Amino acid sequence: MKERPIVSEQEMQRQREFMELVKAMGERPRRYHIVSMGCQMNERDSESIAGMLNAMGMEQEAVREQADLILYNTCCVRENAENKALGNVIWLKELKKDKPDLMICVGGCMTQEKGMAEMMKKRYPFIDLIYGTHNLYKLPEYIYRALSQRQPVIEVMDIDGEVVEGMPEARKNRFNAFVNIMYGCDNFCTYCIVPYVRGRERSRTPEAVLEECARLRDEGAKEIMLLGQNVNSYRGGGAEFAELLRRVNDLGISRIRFMTSHPKDLSDELIAAFGELEHLMPQLHLPVQAGSNEVLRRMNRSYTREHYLELVKKLRRVCPEIGLTSDIIVGFPGETLEQFEETMSLVEEVRFDAAYTFIYSPRKGTRAATYPDDTPYEVKSERIQRLIDRQQAIALEVLEQQVGKAERVLVEAVSTRDAASVGGKTPRGHMVNFAGPASLIGKFVDVEITSAGRNTLRGRRITEE
Ligand code: 5AD
Ligand code: SF4
Repeated sequence: MKERPIVSEQEMQRQREFMELVKAMGERPRRYHIVSMGCQMNERDSESIAGMLNAMGMEQEAVREQADLILYNTCCVRENAENKALGNVIWLKELKKDKPDLMICVGGCMTQEKGMAEMMKKRYPFIDLIYGTHNLYKLPEYIYRALSQRQPVIEVMDIDGEVVEGMPEARKNRFNAFVNIMYGCDNFCTYCIVPYVRGRERSRTPEAVLEECARLRDEGAKEIMLLGQNVNSYRGGGAEFAELLRRVNDLGISRIRFMTSHPKDLSDELIAAFGELEHLMPQLHLPVQAGSNEVLRRMNRSYTREHYLELVKKLRRVCPEIGLTSDIIVGFPGETLEQFEETMSLVEEVRFDAAYTFIYSPRKGTRAATYPDDTPYEVKSERIQRLIDRQQAIALEVLEQQVGKAERVLVEAVSTRDAASVGGKTPRGHMVNFAGPASLIGKFVDVEITSAGRNTLRGRRITEE
């Protein structure tokens, strides 16, 4: 992977000046609401967006209808993500009828798709700003232009993207943080649109990553999640991912996780890290996508079922407690019943803690979208239901095996179902809810696991750190 130029300090300074200009404007939005769709990379981008909007003198507004600026950070990995974003935008048209000054911004992966911005411009002229994935750092300039010209601004850059350092940020909380280590993807799995909308792989330097992690640690971070579309192909300043991980581990942050890993690039050194690094949590998201070698070949995944199972064995050898999670696609073009059964048997063999399952969704411009696909949708639906049912039963068995254990939980939030409970993750990544006050949020608490539910554990507090 090539190292990419970093957006110049001069350009970042220009953008800071636009933030000041917007801030000084008399008529401008005061309160913003960001809708973040899709993956953690988008969530992290939304924190940068919030940072820029704050620097423009705006405040976050929790209720969408009450905001003066609504920004959609979109996803397009599957068609339903796109439909959801477009459906929301149409709904905003109505809102804007009542609030003519409402500023509507749409950016992220969907707007970066070929032809999408032009289509949106024609069909949704009420959108004030459309930008892509490569020019997020220019948001201050675009907002300034949209406000001063009172005309829609459409800016989607076609270049592959650079590495941007030094954007403002407004983190969701202090105790667990996302840290980008690389951007883009070069793998071109045949079903996937990500390489087209996020551009070529490019890594941040180890220094930039370590500096950010150290700063977050000093500000109270207890857990960090290193992010990239394929972190295993990280190459920053000559350092590989396993080395970067070692250096992050040395910073002494209590918990480190990372995602996403591509099985073809999961090195022995990285596997060994799970047995060696004190702060690396025993959890790995390792998308397998399919259990059939023929399907994997047509997906351009560059590994076999046997290789994947070997990786699982190695990981469990160095770290018997490791919790593995995965992504699985059902109904890839031409998938036969036998090939689907191979996915079922792989799930049986591996026993994932959790698997995110998707029906294949053709994406324009990808290779697989041109493959003949004669499996009816109902058949695909039946297949995925079988897979979900089996995986859920396995997940429940895995959770039940945790009952009786004492686990250290980093409390993340008040439980959604019960206001007198809080919830957080175990080292392995299992969500545990237990009775406790909101003041525990951001703290480590020792909990005894008392029962297992469908996706979460229930526990009883033992001590507080
Ligand atoms: N159809 C269905 N699922 C997809 N994914 C990516 N592209 C598609 C598609 N076209 C899934 C993969 C990936 C996850 C993030 O989304 O499983 O790992
Ligand atoms: Fe998409 Fe494959 Fe890249 Fe993941 S590794 S983002 S599935 S192309």
